[in-house]
Amino acid sequence: MAFVIALLTGRCTYSLGDGGYDLSRFRENAELSSVPDELRGIVQTNGEAARAISAQNDGGDLRFVIIGDTISDNNGTFRTFLGEIAALDPRPSFIVHLGDRVVSPVVDYYGTYLRAISDPPCPILHVDGNHDVREEGERISRAFFGDKDFFFDRDDMRFVFMSNVHGDGDPGFSRKQLAWLEDKLKAPYPPRKFFFAHVPPKAPFKKINPGLYSLFTPRLENEGEFLDILARHNVVLAAFGHRHVHASVVHNGALMIITGGGGQRNFLEPAVDEPRFTKKNHYTLVDIPTSGPYEPFEGVLSCMGKGKEILSISSFFQASPFANGGDISVALRPYPASAGGPFRPGTPASTRLGSSSRTP
Ligand SMILES: [Fe+2]
Repeated sequence: MAFVIALLTGRCTYSLGDGGYDLSRFRENAELSSVPDELRGIVQTNGEAARAISAQNDGGDLRFVIIGDTISDNNGTFRTFLGEIAALDPRPSFIVHLGDRVVSPVVDYYGTYLRAISDPPCPILHVDGNHDVREEGERISRAFFGDKDFFFDRDDMRFVFMSNVHGDGDPGFSRKQLAWLEDKLKAPYPPRKFFFAHVPPKAPFKKINPGLYSLFTPRLENEGEFLDILARHNVVLAAFGHRHVHASVVHNGALMIITGGGGQRNFLEPAVDEPRFTKKNHYTLVDIPTSGPYEPFEGVLSCMGKGKEILSISSFFQASPFANGGDISVALRPYPASAGGPFRPGTPASTRLGSSSRTP
């Protein structure tokens, strides 16, 4: 029975590996909520990562990675992906970790996670997952990563990150959080908005929850209001983890993706026959060529498996929000979409995407 419960709750065991930082002081001292002196500076906080990204911004094309649910034996899958991300040319500007990087005992697994990211290929921005805030995890997450609801701007793009996990409570967004989100998205500039959180909303992903699976997939707290805010402010892309699969759909004009294949087991996930869906371990690579606020906006979404295998690749398009009365719903297209696409057809996203790869 305990095994069945473990399966249903996802509390599988993973080997811990050696060499993790010693965070036992968080277990011994329930008041500890800051980084111990001997561990200061081993990883960037979210604020430090955002400032580092802004400092490196050269105003050119943007490439970034989204990954989630990276727990595996010895963090092996995640460390493999970090190595492959480091070898990408050009190297991504940043990685978004969508949460679930530890399991119980959180103190020990967090020590190994922090060691795994101590020499990252680029700044990493951290969103909390439900596993990350259990036991001592909330204090460790705040000590090492700082803010859990935050944003930064890069040229005409705004990136907004939120926590929708609350210990063992139901996932979702409080009214106060939704007011904060509305405030961050309503600004007309920067016009292109991106959003990241751990637990996906239910409504956009009905097709990956067939039959009984739907019963085990609750709606988020205040899900309707949350989705309305994303649609009202023409969010380009909203990314979530928690489910250990890749799925990507357009819902109410926004590109919605689940990309939680960073290592955690997923034998309980349904295998559905949907475009771009995969249960294979993966991360998602996003390439966005330079465009002005008065120009159409087009990017490439690549689901990357181990060994740089391209599991799926699509382009996503949004017209200028300043166009006269135009529909700015995002369109998701097979890649290469057309001769007018942003990158030369057939050019894998894992290879260099410089100016020579543009279609004239
Ligand atoms: Fe999760």
